[in-house]
Amino acid sequence: MSAKKPLNIGMIGYGFMGRAHSNAYAKVNHFFHDLAHKPVLKAVCARNKEKAQAFADAWGYESVETDWRQLIARDDIDAIDISAPNNVHREIALEAAKAGKMILCEKPLAMNAQEGEEMVQAVEKAGVANTVWYNYRRVPAITLAKNLIEEGKLGRIFHYRTLFLQDFTISEDLPQGGPGLWRLDASVAGSGVTGDLLAHNIDTAMWLNGALAEVSAMTETFVKERQHVDTGQKQPVRIDDAAAFMARFDNGALATFEATRFARGHKAYYTLEINGEHASIFWDLHDLHRLSYFDHRDASNVRGWRSIHVTDGEHPYMDKWWVPGLQIGYEHTFVHQVADFLKCLETGEPCRPNFRDALETQYVCDAVLASAKSRAWTPCKK
Ligand SMILES: NC(=O)c1ccc[n+]([C@@H]2O[C@H](COP(=O)([O-])OP(=O)(O)OC[C@H]3O[C@@H](n4cnc5c(N)ncnc54)[C@H](O)[C@@H]3O)[C@@H](O)[C@H]2O)c1
Repeated sequence: MSAKKPLNIGMIGYGFMGRAHSNAYAKVNHFFHDLAHKPVLKAVCARNKEKAQAFADAWGYESVETDWRQLIARDDIDAIDISAPNNVHREIALEAAKAGKMILCEKPLAMNAQEGEEMVQAVEKAGVANTVWYNYRRVPAITLAKNLIEEGKLGRIFHYRTLFLQDFTISEDLPQGGPGLWRLDASVAGSGVTGDLLAHNIDTAMWLNGALAEVSAMTETFVKERQHVDTGQKQPVRIDDAAAFMARFDNGALATFEATRFARGHKAYYTLEINGEHASIFWDLHDLHRLSYFDHRDASNVRGWRSIHVTDGEHPYMDKWWVPGLQIGYEHTFVHQVADFLKCLETGEPCRPNFRDALETQYVCDAVLASAKSRAWTPCKK
């Protein structure tokens, strides 16, 4: 029998993130041996019982629920995982906090900052452990970038430049609503690429370089009407297909952010570049195990961009995986987040980003949308 404490997971949603998180819960103790807890796949909840059961069978969940309220009410569930679309995050989180459950919520935290504020209040009042799955912080190359910045390797930071480019919604025939494509329906998603993609860029940026002070944004909806899968009717599209903004950080650095689903040829081209007084770094999700680094202090005859293969035991998280030279990928970022969450349960530290951190990102998203509408520089509420 395992000496580890079971942590019973109640998963809501079995889509893209339901799979990514289930995989992480199942794997974490195989690779992170020093954890006191062991996640147990106790129950998965989705509205369609047959589909939920099929998922439970495939992933080894012990039971299924079709109503998330029933799941939260169960005494044998310790933690609620919110892997459902954005329009239900708030309601589920408020109920779960009231029931004293830990919460691991997908991003964006909420449909807007007002909802996010309620969620922060609820978890802080209940005193329940909480985290939000901004998983890119846990790409070893990005964690390494954070360490380099904290060590002062870059010096004063002048510029932050970041993109998140996709091309999957260019066709006008693509409907809105339903699995995956709820992203095109503003009543379910809240916003378009701002909450879906830029929220990731913003979370990483504020983690690496501190808070954003103000933004000046533009957004566009290229396809104005799409058939809705629920009604079969053409309906106006109210999400942003593309968004770009300029920003100033509190530390004086300048930034540009751009996200779109209309960049033909790009699938998930998330990049970031930071230029400091001594050194610069560049990272690209398509090559996520590498960090490009340029250091002006190198001898001039060998000075140039180097590509660090982030696979050595001394690199963040990498001592838990394979031997140096063998890389890991996307799914591992979720394993890292579960490992960090479990470690935080032991130490009593908050597992960052927690709801309060994710609310800061939500404020920036709201400022981006407000600025695009007003065409004015807009402060980011803090
Ligand atoms: N961290 C990341 O990189 C990342 C990536 C993708 C999605 N997300 C976020 O994860 C969440 C889910 O996105 P996804 O891509 O997995 O979507 P998806 O469409 O693949 O899956 C959504 C799941 O939620 C279920 N669901 C919907 N309404 C429900 C309800 N009322 N009760 C119970 N279950 C319900 C659906 O049946 C489905 O199983 C969203 O908030 C999204 O923004 C985060």
